Amino acid sequence: MIDLPDDSIAFRSADASDGTGIAALHTASWRHAYRGILPDSYLDGAIAAERLELWKKRLSPSGRNRRLILLAEASRGLAGFVCLLLDEEPEWGACLDNLHVRPDIHGRGLGRRLFAEAARWLRSMEPGWPLHLWVFEANQAARGFYDRFKGDVVARQIKRMPGGVDIASLRYVWRDVEMLANRLTGRPAA
Ligand SMILES: CC(C)(COP(=O)(O)OP(=O)(O)OC[C@H]1O[C@@H](n2cnc3c(N)ncnc32)[C@H](O)[C@@H]1OP(=O)(O)O)[C@@H](O)C(=O)NCCC(=O)NCCS
Repeated sequence: MIDLPDDSIAFRSADASDGTGIAALHTASWRHAYRGILPDSYLDGAIAAERLELWKKRLSPSGRNRRLILLAEASRGLAGFVCLLLDEEPEWGACLDNLHVRPDIHGRGLGRRLFAEAARWLRSMEPGWPLHLWVFEANQAARGFYDRFKGDVVARQIKRMPGGVDIASLRYVWRDVEMLANRLTGRPAA
């Protein structure tokens, strides 16, 4: 598949007016990626209102923690977003809490670019920090993406998820974010 042309995507930080758009993409992405993992009753029901509440809260003035919420916009609107939190389990470094690309443009290089922007931002904010995330064990597609960039799986935990189900998640860690950034941008590792 051909990557999206670089100049077809613009990146910008989210502001308070972006909650509805981010929640809509987040909902569509979960419906696509988590079908068969989270209950249909949740994916077809409460998820939309729940995601909207989450993003309104996160983008409100009181929700401003140390974090990056970066949007990727195409001519047809929001194409993806990434959210990186600095103070969520900081003993593991920064937490990549969300990385979502619009389902109809998966596999065209945007996930890599968003991940690269997040790694670049982390290096500017907290040089030397590692990066970690949790991914559902059953989310084979996302795990394929994270494996491609050589994340280490360091833990497995059963967690109670939205929708009321207990699901196994894996913690991925990149201890050397400079090396990760090089991999993401295609530069040879130092
Ligand atoms: C995971 C996700 C962000 C990846 O973004 P994407 O734009 O589809 O991925 P890219 O096109 O940037 O892929 C980058 C590289 O990863 C590889 N890759 C992507 N998906 C893969 C998969 N399922 N298996 C193996 N490799 C994969 C690509 O082949 C590409 O490798 P290359 O550089 O050698 O060509 C996207 O598919 C997504 O939004 N998924 C649903 C939401 C989700 O599960 N998010 C993660 C929650 S923890």
